Parts: sequence; C-alpha cells; structure tokens
Amino acid sequence: MNKYVSIEKISRFEGEEVSIRGWLFNKRSSGKIVFLQVRDGSGFIQGVVIKKEVDSDVFDLCKEITQESSIIVSGIVQKDDRSKLGFELLVKNVAMVSPAEEGYPISLKEHGTDFLMDYRHLWMRTPKQNAILRIRDEINLSIRNYFHDNGFVLIEPPVITPTSCEGTTDLFGIDYFGEDAYLSQTGQLYAEAAAMAFGKVYSFGPTFRAEKSKTRKHLNEFWMVEPEMAYVTFEENLVIQENLISHIVQTVLSNRRQELAELERDTSLLEKIKPPFPRITYTDAVEMLQNADFEFTWGDDFGAPHESYIASKYEKPVFITHFPAEMKPFYMEPCPENPNVILGADLIAPEGYGEIIGGSQRIHDLDLLLKKMKEDNLPEDPYQWYIELRKYGSVPHSGFGMGLERTVAWICGIDHIRQTIPFARTLNRIYP
Ligand code: 4AD
Ligand code: MG
Repeated sequence: MNKYVSIEKISRFEGEEVSIRGWLFNKRSSGKIVFLQVRDGSGFIQGVVIKKEVDSDVFDLCKEITQESSIIVSGIVQKDDRSKLGFELLVKNVAMVSPAEEGYPISLKEHGTDFLMDYRHLWMRTPKQNAILRIRDEINLSIRNYFHDNGFVLIEPPVITPTSCEGTTDLFGIDYFGEDAYLSQTGQLYAEAAAMAFGKVYSFGPTFRAEKSKTRKHLNEFWMVEPEMAYVTFEENLVIQENLISHIVQTVLSNRRQELAELERDTSLLEKIKPPFPRITYTDAVEMLQNADFEFTWGDDFGAPHESYIASKYEKPVFITHFPAEMKPFYMEPCPENPNVILGADLIAPEGYGEIIGGSQRIHDLDLLLKKMKEDNLPEDPYQWYIELRKYGSVPHSGFGMGLERTVAWICGIDHIRQTIPFARTLNRIYP
C-alpha cells in the first residue's frame, strides 16, 4: 500500500512510489504514452503513463478518463526540471473514484469572465483562480498574525445592525421580527466600544453595501479588517497602516512565490512596499490634478481616473490626508488648525488599484459628536450606546478599515475584484 501524499510536499518523496488523491485536470496522449495533468488542491503534477509499464486495463482507463474525474494515481516521484513543480510521476496505477460526465463546462479553451463566473464553483479549480484564493488565504493569516502579535484583540461585531454608519443610501435592509434592521456596512462603531475595553482591537468580517456600482473595484459583500485603537492619534494611525500593508506584502512575497509566478505578477513592484509611505494632503492632490488638466474642484470626490493619476506619481501606496469634512462620515475628528478638513486619510494602492484603506482619528468630545450627528440628521436614539462612550472615560482614538478584496486584487495584480473572493456578490450576481 502506497503512502498518500499531497503534491505540494512531493519533493520529499523523490524516488519513492506514492499515491495522489485528486482529479484529472487535463490529458494528452500520443499512442504509447499518456500524460495526465493531475491536481489535488495543493498543486498540479504531470503523471506519465507508459503503455508497456502498466497493466493494459490501466492504460485503457487512462486513455478514456474524462476531465475532472476524481482519481487516485500511484507512481514513482521523479525529478523533472522542465515542469514548474520540478517533479513528475512515473505512473504505475490509476484508480477511478468517480468518472466525470462528458462535456465539462470549463474546457481548457478561453472563456469570457461572465461565463466563468456562472461556473465559479468549477472555475476555482483552475490554476490561476486557485493561486488567487491561496494568496487571499495567506493575506488573511498575515493580517491576523500581525494584529495578534501586536497585542490587538479580535472582536467580532454583529452583522445585523439597527443603524447605519457610513451613510444611509447603501444599506441592505432586513426585517428583524417586525423591526427595521440592516446588514452591517462596517463594524467600526462596535470596534470603538471594544477599544475602550481592550485598548487595541480589530474586527474582521463580511460587510455589505447595496451600492449599484458596476466597477472593477466594488462588491456588494466584501471583507473588511477594522482595527481601532485607544489613545492613538492621526499620525500614529498612518504608521500602523503602512506597517500592516508592508507586513502583508512581504509575507506573501516570502510564502507565495509560486502562486505569484502562476499569476505572472511583477514582484519587483511588490518588493518596494516597505514603510514609510508617501503622504499628500487632499488640497495638494487637488492641485496636482488641476495642474494635469483634470476638471476638478476642491470638495469633489476622487473617481478612479483621479486616484490612478495620483497613484502613478508614486511607487508605493500613497496616503491622501485631510479630506474636506463634508465629504466624510460624521465620526471623523476635525483638524484643529482647520476644522473644514478632517484628521483622516485614504490609502491609495499603486498601479491603479484605488483606495484600499479608509481611516481617521475619531471624535472623542461629546458635544462635538452630538453637533456633527445633528448636522448629518442622524437620530440620537439608536446611537445612544455610541454616544455614551464619550460620557465615560472618552479618549482620543483612531482606526481604519482595509478592504480585503481590493488588497488581494492589487497584490495578485488582477484586473477585477470579483476573482478575489470565493463567491462574489455583485450588482447582477447572486449565483452561484
Ligand atoms: O472607506 P470605507 O467605506 O470605510 C469604512 O467603512 C470605515 N468605517 C472603516 C473604518 O475606519 N473602520 O471602507 C473601507 C475600505 C475601503 O478603503 C475599501 O478598501 C473597502 O473598504 N471597500 C470596498 N471593497 C469592495 N467593495 C466595496 N463596495 C467597498 N467599499 C469599501
Ligand atoms: Mg472610503
């Protein structure tokens, strides 16, 4: 009986006979030899079946196996410098687990992305999609490690919430036993409460935006990591962000070289992602755009072309700081020197990937918070608990939200955010 091994660990078994439990990804045959491309979830390997070296029924089976049949392939691990993996399998036996029906939808020719998204449940088996989701997993873990190692406590906010936080226009409403409730847009307000209990916390979960945007950067359900820190001010908040992003990128570079190569990612651009990151004020960014002949006035929000232009001036992500207060949510602390702008920043990724982080110092003064809420026509009742945080030991504090999928898209260098999450929810898609 052979050892079951995973393809990613195959190098340890050179010269030994092993068995791989997986699926047939692709096949080529030429008379007396069949090449089986086998995947097992951990990787892809080529199995070489030579007619005179296997039983005739095994050879016949190999010629017949359909794409995506589940099979157990046994053979001897051999070095093969021509393959990406560096090894191949000299096949001795193949056992069928479940033959796939003829006509597998994702044949190995080119398909349009919309078609592939309809078959996402199968598309995720292919090498590029597999690499993206593995890098996503690595990024997930690197985020958790970063915060855990730096003394942050993970706090899960509720997904069902009674109020809005980022604005009322893009909420998904639900009926909560006869009361109006919403799927959470952000866990921030709850993270602020937890920061007063634990000092440094982060939440990491799904968030929902009923935005009718059909862009390469918007999902209606996405994952956001949201740290919140007591006694941390605006400038210190930026340092934590650049350290986090650098940690994530460097971890992916160390641990996911093969996946980045599969995606043909130019890693020289990622190598440069180390602190400090450049900072530019909103006002200076507006001037930069105007000098480049964009029609843009102070107070306008940046669109994708503006963000891309600003980002193109830098090799690293760039912080745009001190946005006009009226553009941003009620909770952002005004700048003491100029209360028309806030002590907050968006972090814009290089290469046109747009905003990956939004953050700020939060208002900690009770009267100022109440004034801002009034200006934004927010009812006090549902926010009473949030307001109370300013009554009992309020301190300056800051936090930010990093969109996981936009970060994955940038690090992977792929053009559309829908490929960065296992099953995307977009304007026209709730299937599969
Ligand atoms: O800038 P946003 O809306 O900020 C907040 O929600 C704050 N409450 C976060 C905080 O300070 N705790 O969203 C933060 C990030 C964006 O920078 C972006 O990366 C991502 O979340 N994001 C989206 N990602 C995918 N699809 C969407 N529709 C997104 N909207 C925001
Ligand atoms: Mg934002």
